Amino acid sequence: PAPLRIGLAGLGTVGVGVIKIVQQHADMIAMRAGRPITITAVSARDATRDRGVDLSGFAWESDPVALARRDDVDVFVEVMGGHEGAAKDATEAALATGKDVVTANKALLAHYGQALADSAEAAGRTIRFEAAVAGGIPIIKALTEGLAGNAIRRVMGVMNGTCNYILTRMEDTGLPYDVVFEEARALGYLEADPNLDVGGIDASHKLSLLASIAFGTQVSFDAVEMEGIGAVSIDDIRRAGDMGYRIKLLGVAQMTGRGLEQRMTPCLVPCDSPLGQLSGGTNMVVVEGDAVGQIVLRGAGAGQGPTASAVMGDVIDLARGIRTPTFGVPAAHLTVPVAAHSAAP
Ligand code: HSE
Repeated sequence: PAPLRIGLAGLGTVGVGVIKIVQQHADMIAMRAGRPITITAVSARDATRDRGVDLSGFAWESDPVALARRDDVDVFVEVMGGHEGAAKDATEAALATGKDVVTANKALLAHYGQALADSAEAAGRTIRFEAAVAGGIPIIKALTEGLAGNAIRRVMGVMNGTCNYILTRMEDTGLPYDVVFEEARALGYLEADPNLDVGGIDASHKLSLLASIAFGTQVSFDAVEMEGIGAVSIDDIRRAGDMGYRIKLLGVAQMTGRGLEQRMTPCLVPCDSPLGQLSGGTNMVVVEGDAVGQIVLRGAGAGQGPTASAVMGDVIDLARGIRTPTFGVPAAHLTVPVAAHSAAP
């Protein structure tokens, strides 16, 4: 059978991880997908840097939009990041020229997911984004496939590893937020704009995507009630501990009498609960379905292997011909959520 041909935009940590999996597991993947998966062309800003993988077999495009439009690409894989400019233009170009898209870009989808899903379906294509939410944890597949028979009651979790690292480190050392923040920066854990992490924005992007899938609503990132971790003090952490709680930046999405409630705020969670036992830079997503009860998924929310693992799961699905709609139901059927944003006084 004809190979599935990837155009890979972005050769940072995640892009290199994708190349490694494709190269190291070629036979296993061909067996599972029913056809070989190859990378035909790549794009990145710097063509000369040694990335520790063999790029010699790939065509090089300096412009990701040109990459997205190539005739020898079936699936456009976007792991560049950024939600304006190149990432958006290239994703649109891929859909307009009949490619499926696999992306790790939560910001792009949180802002433009509805329009992109519409374009994809108009073209008979799909956008898959397992890597955009909680890294290696297959939560999108869990919601759209394994749990598709459930009415979802609630989705919640810790979806930013950097914030969980900072809060855990404050607990362990008694050092104040500002000091631990600088430590995290020195370790390279923070996004280029740290407020994406500590302001709760990155985690809210992810929550808004999960909420859309879980409740069949249009993505409504602007309706997330959001507060970051910058105001959490060592006193708060100590007092919480004395009462048997830990403080987590917790995302919760649930349908209430007032509409879809989406909150991303520092919360007290009991120490003996699954969320209360989550330490360091790990992610956890908890789903409550009417038939299944509670499911807990835990794993690495970032990093080369985990994020590339999620990307490749999506690529292999596409190679098998599986084209679940982007948000689990056709984009035209997503309801406009009545925001429960103006919460109780
Ligand atoms: N900055 C993010 C985190 C990376 O810390 O979880 C993965 O989205």
